[in-house]
Amino acid sequence: MEKKSELYAGKAKSVYNTDEADKLILQFRDDTSAFDGEKIAQLARKGMVNNKFNAFIMQRLEEAGVPTHFEHLLSDTESVVKKLEMLPVECVVRNIAAGSMVRRLGVKEGIDLNPPTFEFFLKDDALHDPMINEYHIQTFGWATETEIEEMKVLTFRVNDVLKQLFLGAGLLLVDYKLEYGRFNGRIILGDEFTPDGCRLWDAHTRDKLDKDRFRQGIGGVVEAYEEVARRLGIALD
Ligand code: ADP
Ligand code: TMP
Ligand code: ASP
Repeated sequence: MEKKSELYAGKAKSVYNTDEADKLILQFRDDTSAFDGEKIAQLARKGMVNNKFNAFIMQRLEEAGVPTHFEHLLSDTESVVKKLEMLPVECVVRNIAAGSMVRRLGVKEGIDLNPPTFEFFLKDDALHDPMINEYHIQTFGWATETEIEEMKVLTFRVNDVLKQLFLGAGLLLVDYKLEYGRFNGRIILGDEFTPDGCRLWDAHTRDKLDKDRFRQGIGGVVEAYEEVARRLGIALD
């Protein structure tokens, strides 16, 4: 496969057109950003770790019947994916209270959420990804009613699959963000699933093993991602 022009340079990944019209190459960079791009750093090895982590998770999701854009690994830091028409919304499911939910609702970090919650956010850094609801999505044409329903069903199916997968590795899946896109008239999972876009805590110590280590300046960010990968049996070298 031949890499063509750069289609989009995001905060942590670059997206390239290829010689196949319906395929893209996603390049996972070492850049790490938080607070909608306000805090940015380069963390050595992160691109490679996230690329392989994402490939592993996308394959587990496909096996469980979640349609994803993932095709195959191309190199240490690149993957081939289907080219989607991305929907500008982020889907967040939370199993345990943390992050913006704690700030917004004043609930205590660490409480179990039963049932898990679902939230939509608008993908717009300049507006700091405001929370939106299904009316906003339909009124402003960001997705149809059917697509909204499909995103909710798929995002909860991901929860069923990944909560168990991580628990088996001694990890709590606290929350995560997913993005979807259109492909041949259906909605499929796009973007990534890595510790950059979810919260993972050690099930016993509740140590944070995700991007909160970067957001909160705890350090050992990539080492924590590698620890999660090791526990899941993901080969990194
Ligand atoms: P951000 O845009 O938030 O800075 P990234 O640095 O991760 O995020 O950039 C990757 C970009 O590529 C995102 O905007 C994402 O929506 C987009 N993207 C991810 N997967 C696909 C895909 N399969 N087809 C088209 N665009 C995609
Ligand atoms: P939040 O607590 O900041 O709302 O984030 C919830 C989860 O979604 C957390 O795992 C981080 C992830 N997330 C992103 O990866 N990117 C984003 O832009 C947002 C808003 C959340
Ligand atoms: N994903 C957003 C960013 O990279 C928000 C965050 O992770 O804090 O800035």
